Amino acid sequence: MADVVTPKSQRPEIVSTVNDPTIKVMVELRNLHKIYESGANAVHALRGLNVDIPEGQYIAIMGASGSGKSTLLNVLGALDVPSKGSFKIAGRLTSQLSRDELAALRNEYIGFIFQNFNLLARSTAVENVELPMIYAGVPTRKRREAALAALEKVHLADRGNHLPSELSGGQQQRVAIARSLVNNPRVLLADEPTGNLDSHTSAEILKIMAKLHEEERLTIILVTHDPGVATAAERTIILKDGRIIYDNPTPRCGGPEVPDVRALSMQEI
Ligand SMILES: Nc1ncnc2c1ncn2[C@@H]1O[C@H](COP(=O)(O)OP(=O)(O)O)[C@@H](O)[C@H]1O
Ligand SMILES: [Mg+2]
Repeated sequence: MADVVTPKSQRPEIVSTVNDPTIKVMVELRNLHKIYESGANAVHALRGLNVDIPEGQYIAIMGASGSGKSTLLNVLGALDVPSKGSFKIAGRLTSQLSRDELAALRNEYIGFIFQNFNLLARSTAVENVELPMIYAGVPTRKRREAALAALEKVHLADRGNHLPSELSGGQQQRVAIARSLVNNPRVLLADEPTGNLDSHTSAEILKIMAKLHEEERLTIILVTHDPGVATAAERTIILKDGRIIYDNPTPRCGGPEVPDVRALSMQEI
């Protein structure tokens, strides 16, 4: 897999990944459908998505509640499989991988951040950050070192022994970011990561994401309802009823102003 993605040392300095043909494709979706077959009612959550995501791009996904954002993120994170169509990541067609290969790919390439942080309540910050490395089989001592280094990146090295309940919401999300980074992923998937945070704390989290994007050249795919949050990205995709209705660069990459999806859905009601 390693030859498909540009080694870190060879990655070019990129001002914007939008419209730069030299950048490799990290994620490719073709006619992607997801149908949830639950009982008598099938829910057609994604209806034929076609998307190329270049390596190192920062994308915001927007859309009303129920439009398919989390479903898309779960497919991109190889937590769920498409019902139809194809999903390629780092040149690998996921439908051709076994369960174990898919899990290995997830471990190697993907980090997750969620709205409610998803930390283990009875484990300390450093133990939470170590968790993905336990699955990856990293030895104890190396785990601790890497977890502390990841906490350092989010400025929480001094809080390693605290339980989540002893940390603020913003600090808990920073622990979750540290946890998402410990296996050195190439793609960071964030499902409304600032949804439970006040604006000041949200800004802090966005600053960390921007730094990860700029310095580590991470591909970031972030779900948000907030056009202000989306503006931090390079490109915005808006879903409606499982279809892409908008796909444009953000203003800082030469695109139009990011529409306010909340206002759009208000008008529709
Ligand atoms: N596990 C599931 N089983 C059945 N239907 C689901 C499941 N997950 C999501 N859905 C349905 O799929 C549609 C898209 O949901 P979701 O991706 O969670 O939207 P969003 O994240 O944009 O709010 C909704 O109609 C939702 O009810
Ligand atoms: Mg959702």
